[in-house]
Amino acid sequence: MANVLVIGATGQIGKQAVVKLLDAGHKVKAPVRSPDKLADIKNDNFTVVEQDLEKDFSQHFDDVDTVIFTAGSGGSTGPEKTLLIDLWAARNAVNYAKESNVTTFIMVSSIGAGDPDAVDSEIKPYLVAKHMADEHLKNSGLHYIILRPGSLLNEPGTHLVSTEVPTDKNKAVIPREDVATALVEATSRVDDTNVILHLFKGDTPIAHIF
Ligand SMILES: NC(=O)c1ccc[n+]([C@@H]2O[C@H](COP(=O)([O-])OP(=O)(O)OC[C@H]3O[C@@H](n4cnc5c(N)ncnc54)[C@H](OP(=O)(O)O)[C@@H]3O)[C@@H](O)[C@H]2O)c1
Repeated sequence: MANVLVIGATGQIGKQAVVKLLDAGHKVKAPVRSPDKLADIKNDNFTVVEQDLEKDFSQHFDDVDTVIFTAGSGGSTGPEKTLLIDLWAARNAVNYAKESNVTTFIMVSSIGAGDPDAVDSEIKPYLVAKHMADEHLKNSGLHYIILRPGSLLNEPGTHLVSTEVPTDKNKAVIPREDVATALVEATSRVDDTNVILHLFKGDTPIAHIF
């Protein structure tokens, strides 16, 4: 059982991850700006605290073993929020984790974050933000697991994934539920080497990729 801080717990991946973490017996704390979105999750091992990630949120990291960062500004906001959440809140979370001697930091990054220059599209600023957040984590000295999913789908998970980037862009997709499952498996991972993994639909059981 780990004490897990889920940042972005009201999100589409985040909420599924919270439920799965609790089912797996972990203790979960969720700093969120809209606690009502989690009111249906009843569990003695679950704590919700109100928090805007644009403010100082260092006070939530005491006694935390694992941080999961799955927050994001979303597609309907502009570059200002991409900077403040996808980059700066992620950067702050890494710093707070480091100061609090957190054991493992799990980052939900994105396909394309490894090399934003390879992408010539309007999402490049988002990929730059993700890239810099990942680099900051890699250079922090924290033990890290960086997950880079493809385009996210709202369909039931299959528990089967691939970590190989497909040549066909249309196949670079994954259900959000499978990313949530991967976050739970990553939380229980015994191997303490740092790792960056892409995530797509595939045929490998999620537990086997860790
Ligand atoms: N969309 C894709 O195809 C894709 C592909 C690869 C990776 N990703 C990444 O996957 C991650 C999760 O995706 P998702 O679909 O689960 O995202 P989502 O549903 O948009 O969830 C984003 C989360 O961030 C929170 N958040 C944003 N600004 C905040 C603030 N100022 N203070 C507190 N919380 C804040 C949201 O809170 P509220 O509920 O209060 O809004 C929500 O909990 C994101 O990092 C995204 O960039 C996405």
